[in-house]
Amino acid sequence: MNIIDIINKTKHGKELNDAEIEALVRGFTNGEIPDYQMSAWLMAVCLNGLTDDETAILTYAMRDTGKVMDLSCIGGTTIDKHSTGGVGDKTSLIIGPIAAACGVYVPKMSGRGLGHTGGTIDKLESINGYNTQLALDKFLEVVSETGFSIISQSEMLCPADKLIYSLRNATGTVDSIPLICSSIMSKKLAMNCDCILLDVKYGSGAFMKTYEDACRLGELMERTGKAVGKKCRAIVTDMNIPLGKNIGNALEVREAVDVLSGQCRGSLYDLCIGLSADMLELAGKGTNADCIRMAENAIASGKALSILERTIELHGGDSRICRDTSLLPQPRYSYNVRAAHNMKIISINSEEIGMTSLLLGAGRISKEDKIDMSAGIVMNCECGQIVGEGETIMTLCSSVCSDFTESARRALNAVKFVKIL
Ligand code: URA
Repeated sequence: MNIIDIINKTKHGKELNDAEIEALVRGFTNGEIPDYQMSAWLMAVCLNGLTDDETAILTYAMRDTGKVMDLSCIGGTTIDKHSTGGVGDKTSLIIGPIAAACGVYVPKMSGRGLGHTGGTIDKLESINGYNTQLALDKFLEVVSETGFSIISQSEMLCPADKLIYSLRNATGTVDSIPLICSSIMSKKLAMNCDCILLDVKYGSGAFMKTYEDACRLGELMERTGKAVGKKCRAIVTDMNIPLGKNIGNALEVREAVDVLSGQCRGSLYDLCIGLSADMLELAGKGTNADCIRMAENAIASGKALSILERTIELHGGDSRICRDTSLLPQPRYSYNVRAAHNMKIISINSEEIGMTSLLLGAGRISKEDKIDMSAGIVMNCECGQIVGEGETIMTLCSSVCSDFTESARRALNAVKFVKIL
């Protein structure tokens, strides 16, 4: 198999066969194909796309470069949930415990944040002591006991994705629907749950900027999962505005606990109930209406919060945060951004809010950057809300940055409003 022939075929929009795709993935993963040739092929994919069949074969070839989990020791239906990521997205911390409280098992591997988007593993590491790197057998023990666990991506699963993803990051080849599909689905298929719920985000804070592209990605991922016998559903949700009120690692864990303890209603609560119900329905637990009732009851009864508490404990973390969120990292400095006049909020750009949070220390620009777990933003306003002069629109938090001049300017820039006279 000649790699230059493979690059040329994709460059000219000709379909690759299974053997060619498998040789490409195998050759790159074992180091026989150098970065520069793989980069050329990735760019050809960005420019010309792949057929659905090519995307599926690429996904399965990537999955097969590592271990495929054996979940047979878990005595029930397993379900994985994936969000394509965004700003303030703490839904995994909420819907995993809800689904587990309703009798399904949620073994989940997650990633770290990069750029303006957050990552679930960073959020969990804001809990003192929480070990995100449990050995796989211990991880499965936790899932069997509580129904839910999240660890960071294992090196043993999908090594091809790790290598290809870092090359894509460095070569401007991230934003390709077939490449995103194969990256996400290879990891989901290696995790090997019975069911997969895919929450595909669109809007300013998401990878997919338009609703149409998010639908295309969702449909492709759904087909790729179903073709190998998984129950798979993709839903498309809005990431034009940040999700919930809190952005930043410890702040988001606090909000997740507030939702699970029934203290926080609103759009985040509604989204989490909807997503949990979709997971339960996919797992065969009843009609959507039944599943919504079950999810609401999991919060109202306190069962979902107890599951999060026990899971944190089994991971070595300080589970007292589930009853007292002041035990989470607290910021040394804070600053209230106030309205200069009476105004009506029209929109809040989530990418800009994500970038401001990063500036405050909550995220990383390069993989090696250290995170300030206490940093982030608390939004005190919503779209459509009328805010009076001098009222706080949002609070900026940080332990590493005490000068808020630039972050306040950027945060205000993210808010579109009309003056009310
Ligand atoms: N998340 C992934 O895991 N891979 C992508 O390519 C994009 C988002």
